[in-house]
Order: sequence, then C-alpha cells, then structure tokens
Amino acid sequence: MTSNNTTPETDTHVTPDAVTDPLADAVTEPSTGTRSVATPDFYTYPWTGITGMEHSEAYVKLTFSDGTRLDAHEWWLRESVVTEGACDPTTREGTLDPADIADDLALTSVAVDPDGALTVAFTDGTTGRIHPGWLHHVAVGRHQANAHLPPIEVWTAATMNEPPTFDGRAVLSSDDELRVFLDALCSYGIARLTRVPGEGEGSMPEGLAAITDRIGVRRSTNFGDIWNVKAEIRDNSENSTANSGLRLGPHTDLPTRETPPGFQFLHCWVNSVPGGWSRMTDGAAVVAHLEAEEPETYEALTTLNWVFFNRSREHDHRWSGPMIDLGVPGSPLTIRAFYPVRAFPDMDPVDVPRAYRAAKRFHQLGADPRFEIGYPFRDGDMVVFDNRRVLHGRDAFDPGGGVRHLRGSYMDHDEIYSRLRVLTRHHQQRHQSLFAHN
Ligand SMILES: [Fe+2]
Repeated sequence: MTSNNTTPETDTHVTPDAVTDPLADAVTEPSTGTRSVATPDFYTYPWTGITGMEHSEAYVKLTFSDGTRLDAHEWWLRESVVTEGACDPTTREGTLDPADIADDLALTSVAVDPDGALTVAFTDGTTGRIHPGWLHHVAVGRHQANAHLPPIEVWTAATMNEPPTFDGRAVLSSDDELRVFLDALCSYGIARLTRVPGEGEGSMPEGLAAITDRIGVRRSTNFGDIWNVKAEIRDNSENSTANSGLRLGPHTDLPTRETPPGFQFLHCWVNSVPGGWSRMTDGAAVVAHLEAEEPETYEALTTLNWVFFNRSREHDHRWSGPMIDLGVPGSPLTIRAFYPVRAFPDMDPVDVPRAYRAAKRFHQLGADPRFEIGYPFRDGDMVVFDNRRVLHGRDAFDPGGGVRHLRGSYMDHDEIYSRLRVLTRHHQQRHQSLFAHN
C-alpha cells in the first residue's frame, strides 16, 4: 500500500501562544443514513469523495477529490472491513489470523456505491462497505505513527526566552486546558505550569501525582516513581549530583537505558535559594545546526557508539548507542548526553579521537547562549520537557542560602502522545457535533 502525500505541516512562529489548532483540517459531516459506515478505529472522518477507481492485479487504485491517491492491496482491504471475521465491530481490532488466509483470497467485486463508499466482496464470502474518508486519511498519511501530533517547532534562545506557560490549576480541572498544554509540550519539547499545588495545600491534591495521573502511567526507575531533588548527599544508591548545590551542565537523563525516559516532570515545592536557575537547550536545534554547519561532527555524533553505564552499588544499567540517535525514519530524536555515565568508547580505536572532539563540540553547543535559555524556579512551577530532545541543567547554588525542594518523575512518550491524540479526537468530535446541530 502506498500513498502519494504526507500530512501538511503548518508554518508557525515560536511563541507561547502558537500552539497547533487541531481543528485546522477538521471537516464537519453528519454520519447518518447510508453514510454511516463504521471505521476500523474510533475517529470521525469527513465523507471524502472517491473520484477514480481501478482494480489492477491485487490492488485497488483509488483517486480522491483532492487529487491524492492510494494503492490498496486486496488483503489489506479484506482486513479493513468492519464485520465479523475481519475488523471486529466492537474492539475495532483485526481478527483474521494471517496463517488462515487462503492463498487465492481475492476480490470478486469492488465498486464505489452511489453514496461514495467503497463496496467490496471477496472469494471467502466477506462483503462490506469501507468509509471513503477513512481510506483518504491513509492516502494523506494521517495513519502514521506521528499522526494527530503537532508539528515539531525547533527553538533557540533567539526565538524563545521562557517555556510556553499555562495555569496548573486549570490543567488539573479542564481537559481542554490539558490538551492545549500537551500540544505545546509535544511541539516545543518543553512547557511550564504555574500554581501547581504542593503538599497539603488545602483540599488540593499534591500536584505532581495529580497532573501525571491525568495524563498516563508514570515510568518508575531506580530513583523511584516520584523522587525528590534536594541538596543533601547521602551514602546510598540514590546519590546523584542532582542532590547537591553543584552546577549541572546540559544533559539528558538515563542514557544508560535502551529507551531513555521520554518526558521529565520537575515540580518546585519551594525554592528560596539564590541562583540555581534552570537551563534548557533544544537539542533538535543543536542537531539541525550540526547537520547544516558542521557535518563532520554531526557524522561522528550520529554514527559512533558509546557504552553508557551507571556506576551504582545496587544497579548496573548499560546501553550502547550514539550521542545523537536518529533511530529509524519517523522516530523521535534521542540524545544521549550525560558525561557522568558515558563510560566506554564502543567503536574502532581509530575513531576515538574524533568521537571525543565531537562530544566536546556537542557539549559546548549545549551551553552556548545562542541555544540555551535560563529562568528561575518559583514555588508552584512545574516544568515538563522531552528528556530525549531537550538538554536540561542548572546553575550552581549555595545549599545554605535557603530551601530548594523539587519533585520529579518520568513518563514515556507513548503515554503523552496517546493522551494528546485522544483529547484532540474528543475535542474535534465535540466541535463536529456542534456544527452538525447548527
Ligand atoms: Fe537531569
């Protein structure tokens, strides 16, 4: 199956208010009568016109009213009919075991009916109608892994001074506010909430658990489910430079894992110490700069592997990968940049000198004022960022100068993306329903 188009991207500037409008391409369409065709999911689709159809060999070649095309294989169409023995009408999941597909399974007839649906009949007796708008969403690439997520907005210090900021108490109580916040988070890789309640603030629940519970499942690590960042080094397995007043250079957490945590939440319960500002750098901007301006460094960072290893008495996590891991096409960017756990070159010895030069250059750029922004942590602030894209750090501070207590947690990309897609779907369906009744 191939399509000849991709999801159009909007061209927006980086400002806290410039979040993606999920309604930009939504079209209202009542799903009633003969246009009521169940789709293999729970989305609502406009009734897009099929303007051309050709059955050739094992493919049905479709053309839509906007000129897009889709070459759909017969067996995929057979799996996509919502009926018993194909796509289950209740779960909308496939029920056809590929081991049971007859070698000669084929279409006996295919046509566009007078209402515009694709009607199909197969040699095994399966018949059905397929929604043209659902077929069209595949033709334009809206079924891909990055579907229903906002386009990534790469930022630098020249285009963004502080994270996009939203009211935490509104996000706690409103799905729409949560959707807008998550949309900004996925677009810029960072977003901030204010007025998030700490411990024991009247009847309000403790904010970090309450916010993350509204999104998905937290990712627990050897630091725990929700952990504290305080300037108090203890001799146990939770020891970390984070629990001191030392500067933390720009880094990403836990590159020792096969898949480092996707997002990090940091909630400031109280901060009265001078200094200790947060520092953030969009790694996507650094990667783009290196690819365009410093190709030798880019090549070394994307191809030469290091073994990342946590030197703990109680744990032994390790993983080998490049500092800039582009993954397969379409993967989210994964930056492995935490020198305390970058332990061994995993490359031909002849490549080690240029690997070190590239690592040095990457960390220089991570702290370069052209890319890095800084801001103070205030009581009630919660900053959330893509731990695999955005480098984070902090200035040094004097632990004796006051109290500084942050609470942190992780959540994988999958949880955030799923929650945002569902919130966006509900928002669009409410909007469409509103139009349908006007
Ligand atoms: Fe960190």
